[in-house]
Amino acid sequence: MRRLALHFAFACCGLVTGCGESAPPDPAQVVVGRAENGLKFARQRCVICHKVGDRGANLGPAMPDAVKKAIDRSARLEEIVAELERTRPEHRETKRAKLDPLLAETDPERRLQLWLATYLADPKFENPANQMAVLPMTELERADLIAWLLSLR
Ligand code: HEC
Repeated sequence: MRRLALHFAFACCGLVTGCGESAPPDPAQVVVGRAENGLKFARQRCVICHKVGDRGANLGPAMPDAVKKAIDRSARLEEIVAELERTRPEHRETKRAKLDPLLAETDPERRLQLWLATYLADPKFENPANQMAVLPMTELERADLIAWLLSLR
């Protein structure tokens, strides 16, 4: 039983943040991949919680709405971080290495790409109350997903 609990704890460490901080994506390395591969990945994995086309669950917003939310939050990042500084300064501090490069990115398109890359690896990075779990994925899968998400606009 004890062994099982330990295994579970290890498994969780890989899936959720909180057991140590994941490295921020390197802005120079955030690339946009192939949307059709991103769609395939989303149909297999994101459908656990999101509607992708007409299939999937409603635990998260339907994908086009999720993308709208990402666009809005990326554009309002200054305001969101100012609020974090006031209400959750420790979270602002923990996520500094992820938030600062985003704040420094003034090109809205590049910022949105980096926002999505950061979000997929750490959904709580700019909102500690965010309910989304982390899905393990490779850099290439992430790049493909970003291309697909951007194509939903
Ligand atoms: C375990 C369930 C779950 C899985 C799996 C999941 N999501 Fe989410 N996602 C959510 C929930 C819940 C929200 C709403 C977050 C909130 O408001 O707390 C969300 C929100 C989002 C958002 C909007 C950003 C935001 O701040 O809310 C995007 C973009 C997104 N998901 C993309 C994805 C992609 C792409 C995948 C597949 C790689 C995925 N999600 C897999 C549950 C999930």
